[in-house]
Amino acid sequence: MSISLTSHLAPEDAAAALRADALAGLTASPKTLPPRWFYDERGSELFDEITRLPEYYPTRAERAVLAAHADAIAAASGSDVLVELGSGTSEKTRLLLDALRGAGTLRRFVPCDVDPSVLQAAGAAITAEYPGVAVDAVVGDFTRHLDELPRSGRRLVAFLGSTIGNLEPAPRAAFLADLAGTLQPGDSFLLGTDLVKDPARLVRAYDDAAGVTAEFNRNVLRVLDRELGADFDPAAFDHVAVWDAEHEWIEMRLRSRADQVVHVPALDLDVRFAAGEEMRTEVSAKFRRERVEAELDAAGLRMTRWWTDPDGDFGVSLSVP
Ligand code: AVJ
Repeated sequence: MSISLTSHLAPEDAAAALRADALAGLTASPKTLPPRWFYDERGSELFDEITRLPEYYPTRAERAVLAAHADAIAAASGSDVLVELGSGTSEKTRLLLDALRGAGTLRRFVPCDVDPSVLQAAGAAITAEYPGVAVDAVVGDFTRHLDELPRSGRRLVAFLGSTIGNLEPAPRAAFLADLAGTLQPGDSFLLGTDLVKDPARLVRAYDDAAGVTAEFNRNVLRVLDRELGADFDPAAFDHVAVWDAEHEWIEMRLRSRADQVVHVPALDLDVRFAAGEEMRTEVSAKFRRERVEAELDAAGLRMTRWWTDPDGDFGVSLSVP
């Protein structure tokens, strides 16, 4: 069957977006960088490695939910098109593809990710594994390119892995409202959300013993070095993961080990870091069922189903416009 790859992130757009984000974030106080820039080829590989770490429970917990309930999801949605936002390797998605194929409805799969390399590989593998299913991969950013996703068919839009947790409340509300605006009657939205739990477990999931998450965090500095000609020394920054109990989110930061000045030629910028200064690189919000339901509701979506894994670590909701 056919495979297509459409890009809404031309290299020059991505380069301009990175320059704008880096300029805003490196000159802010405190400094920040958006998590989107973790995911170059190496970053996607490191994230894939994270999903297999003993401490990183979300992937296994979500897979358990999908393994137990994919048939119910397929039956409830009745979809013939599966759209996946932030699709990555689409590893767990195969459980949904299998269920939709089993229900006899599946015609088309539309994975969408910012990293073309991971999309190419996942798209080719799924084309081979699911004969008869058209794979139309879209290189894009789920916060900017929702309008570019195909609208035809009865769609199940899946946003798995708790990737929505990377958005803070205001952009999250905007994203959900935008998404709801693209859904037509008959479409459904499947959302994976990591749940609030013992902070010690949460911190371990973002600060693993093998140091893979630390490498993933520092990878954003390598991206800036390569793309912007910067001279960040990743070894000059420590990985930090903290639980913010007030906001109920994990924050990842990079802490400067010394006073240092980093040069960013593409921005014509010199950035001073004090010893111990922390730059925020990611927020990963954790949820409760009531908040997921309320946020969906505020966006005009009605939650019709809610499942968790047996340990109650991870929630998956199905909602409709
Ligand atoms: C892909 C955004 C869901 O927040 O858990 C994993 C990324 N960061 N370890 C998450 C991540 C550090 C992940 N998401």
